[in-house]
This record gives sequence, structure tokens and C-alpha cells, in this order.
Amino acid sequence: MDVILAKSAGFCPGVKRAVNMVYEQTEKCRGREPVYTYGPIIHNDEVVRDLAAKGAEVIHSLEELDDLPKGTVVIRSHGVARSVYETIEAKGFHIIDATCPFVKRIHNIVEEQGRDGRNIIIIGDPDHPEVQGIQGWCLTPSTVIQSVDEAVKFSQMKGEKLCIISQTTFNYNKFKELVEILSEKGYDINCVNSICNATAVRQQEARDIASKEDAMIVIGDKSSSNTRKLYEISKKECENTYYIQTLVDLDLTAFESIRYVGITAGASTPNNIIEEVHTAMSEMSFEQLLEASLKTIRNG
Ligand code: F3S
Repeated sequence: MDVILAKSAGFCPGVKRAVNMVYEQTEKCRGREPVYTYGPIIHNDEVVRDLAAKGAEVIHSLEELDDLPKGTVVIRSHGVARSVYETIEAKGFHIIDATCPFVKRIHNIVEEQGRDGRNIIIIGDPDHPEVQGIQGWCLTPSTVIQSVDEAVKFSQMKGEKLCIISQTTFNYNKFKELVEILSEKGYDINCVNSICNATAVRQQEARDIASKEDAMIVIGDKSSSNTRKLYEISKKECENTYYIQTLVDLDLTAFESIRYVGITAGASTPNNIIEEVHTAMSEMSFEQLLEASLKTIRNG
């Protein structure tokens, strides 16, 4: 089988950095003090389980800290509101900040623009933790807009000063469309495109590969929205696109008559899982591939 693995498959730089920081911290704190992550550090059950085995416990609310022994809390790459840092410190815990530098840049921008008297419009999903974190750094009123309808309905006094920024993982074309609608309303707008390049590069590479291959494998956790997006993009280009979490999920019979296969993976897919699939597809005949999968299933 001829297999091509996307260069951009897997952890983006921000997630890689955050996961490494938790591993480092569990190492440093072992036997001294507990390590907590505020929310799962990554949308991947396997990595979260591995980190838990090494001593990093996930907390889901700051109230939980009241009943836990003092230790270090790691802030994940999505970032959090300023008030979260203050609360954690007030409760007597240390903070390790794994906020992605690209997200941190947005926090700095909204603060700075707020000082300049600009209200903030965040183009993004209001339920996403990154967006909620960004709102927590706004010094002036902020509005989250994610649809054409919301952009059309948005209104403030004419001449009002606004700063528009975007959630890092927002779709660029949609961002442009919404900015165009807002631009026609006569406000004084400062627009900052803060969409992260890592997502666009990964999506474009998936599109390119899927358009050329007989089959495409997209690897990632079922709860990862960026992996789902990669799946949708690939599926559009290549009918034989498969969304798997690990090698075990591959429907091997589907590859019997396939010669060219592309592989990509979401931002939260660990390297060892990608490598396992890549190696299996590259080096094995169909019979060997089948045997390898059965072995993995037998070993649980
Ligand atoms: Fe950061 Fe971009 Fe990843 S914003 S967390 S490098 S997707």
C-alpha cells in the first residue's frame, strides 16, 4: 500500500507545549505535591488517562479545589479568564500557565483595545472555553458573534469604537463574511485576524491529500471538533474517508482493493497513535494488518 502521512497531522504547537508542560510538572512534583489540570488538558481520553496515571488529576470547577490538598494547577492551552488565575491563587495553589501563546496574544489585544475604549466583538462559539476565557480579559463590553444572523442583528451607536478578533480555530471564510457584514454598519472598527495558522495548514493539507488518494484515514478522538472538521473536509474530496480513534477502529475489509492511502490526524491526537496507524498501513500486507488489529483487540 502506498501511504502518505500529512506533515501537519497531530498536536498543534500549542497543544504539544501544554501536554509537555503537564508531563514535566508531574515529574517535578512527584512525591511533593499534587498536580491538577483545570479541565482536560487535551480532547483525548488516552492522553488524559496516561497523565492521570502519572498523577495529574483533572478538576472541572474551581470549587473542587476547596476539598483538595494544595498543589499546582495547570491552565490548558485554551486559556482562562483573568479571574480564574486570581481565584486559584487566592485558594493557595500554584499556577503553571500552558495557555497557547496565540491565545495569550488575544488576551493582550482585548485588554489593550479595551484601554483604548473599544468594545470587543469576538467571532467564535460562545460555548467554547477559549472564547469564554477571552471574554474574561475584556475591560470593555464584549459580544460573541458566530452567525450571519447575529452579525446582521448586531447594533451599537454609530461611530462607536470596536475591536473585532476571532477564536483561534474559527473558519477563515466565515470570519471574513461576518466582518464584512459588521463593516457596513458605520462603526470605527479595528479588526484583528487571530485565527491560528496551524488549523488552516492542517485543513488545507487534508484537502490536498484526500483529493489525490483512493482512501483517507482521519485519526482523532470522537469528541474533538477539529478532527470532525478534518473528516468532513476529507470526505468531500474522497468518498472512502474513515474516522478512527485508533488502529482497532479501522474497517480493514474496506482497504482490500485500495492502493493509495492518505492519513491525517486532529490537533489532539498523540503521535504514538498516528505512528501505529502509519506503520501498520505502510508496512503490512492486508493479512498482517488484520492480524495486528486482532492482537490489539485481544490485548485490550
Ligand atoms: Fe494554539 Fe493554534 Fe493550537 S492557537 S493551541 S497552536 S490550534
